[in-house]
Amino acid sequence: EKDQYILGIETSCDETAVAIIKNGREIVANVVASQIESHKRFGGVVPEIASRHHVEQLTIVLEEAMSQATLEFKDIDGIAVTEGPGLVGALLIGVNAAKALSFAHQIPLVPVHHIAGHIYANRLVTEMKFPLLSLVVSGGHTELVYMKEHGHFEVIGETRDDAAGEAYDKVARTLNMPYPGGPHIDRLAQVGEPIINLPRAWLEEGSYDFSFSGLKSAVINTVHNAEQRGETIKPEDLAASFQESVIDVLVTKTLKATEEYKVNQVLLAGGVAANKGLRNRLEEAFGEINVELVIPPLSLCTDNAAMIAAAGSIFFEKGQRAGLNLNANPGLDI
Ligand code: KG4
Ligand code: ZN
Repeated sequence: EKDQYILGIETSCDETAVAIIKNGREIVANVVASQIESHKRFGGVVPEIASRHHVEQLTIVLEEAMSQATLEFKDIDGIAVTEGPGLVGALLIGVNAAKALSFAHQIPLVPVHHIAGHIYANRLVTEMKFPLLSLVVSGGHTELVYMKEHGHFEVIGETRDDAAGEAYDKVARTLNMPYPGGPHIDRLAQVGEPIINLPRAWLEEGSYDFSFSGLKSAVINTVHNAEQRGETIKPEDLAASFQESVIDVLVTKTLKATEEYKVNQVLLAGGVAANKGLRNRLEEAFGEINVELVIPPLSLCTDNAAMIAAAGSIFFEKGQRAGLNLNANPGLDI
């Protein structure tokens, strides 16, 4: 039987990425051009700058991916592209490139939700065993997604305000650390003690939703109050206390949902999956129960196109297609 090759394109935020996946599971090319350096001095992603970089980088990244794979467009069965959610101007660059390639080479176009992509990064690591639960934690999203089969996504909990990564980045900024702050807070937290009392937003009994803006404000207030009183707080202790609060809530809710939904597997996804504290606490917790925990390598947790092609492969098999009227959808629901 003929091999299936799906080309993925991802431009929803600040990475320009193209990848090619063979038979849904095997990476044959994976190229990511990060723009982080260009956004750093602004302390966050500037949408206009992101769009401009995507325009400049996308054809270069595409050519690099095609040469890595040593394939021609006639070998490609489907073009998977992130249609949303994300920055509209950034998404449009990827969507329009995908449409141009689809039209020029007569290749079917497969739209992919960015979060579906993050979840399907796990399929590049292992077989997915349904029913499963995915904890998606990134700069833009914090979601618990239940899947009873391929292509079926049920959001059982999501953030009501800031995403987990967003809270990390804002707290890092308060502590004068560069963007993106997550890795810096993580490193600092390893050497600090979680001795500062910070809130945990459990929300209503039985809710799988999250809220991190209260915690973020509590950290900022703690810093300001200490400054006013002329006291010093060790930044490493603040980082450790903040991280402990985030992880407590993420891990507790994930475990509860694992039990209630009787899942066979739990998949971690999104950039915050890089967090050492979170990985350790999840591994500890799942070491004690009979449910498989999957944590992809870091390069597949942060934004990339391999994950988009991996999800696209499944959607392609299900016959999901878009026409040349496909549009970017910045607020797309999964
Ligand atoms: O998935 P991602 O690359 O982009 C989005 O789709 O948002 O996630 C980026 C987010 C940033 O907020 C970054 O600070 C956070 O992931 N992050 C971390 C760590 N590494 C990246 N947060 C906590 N600990 C880390 N080690
Ligand atoms: Zn992402």
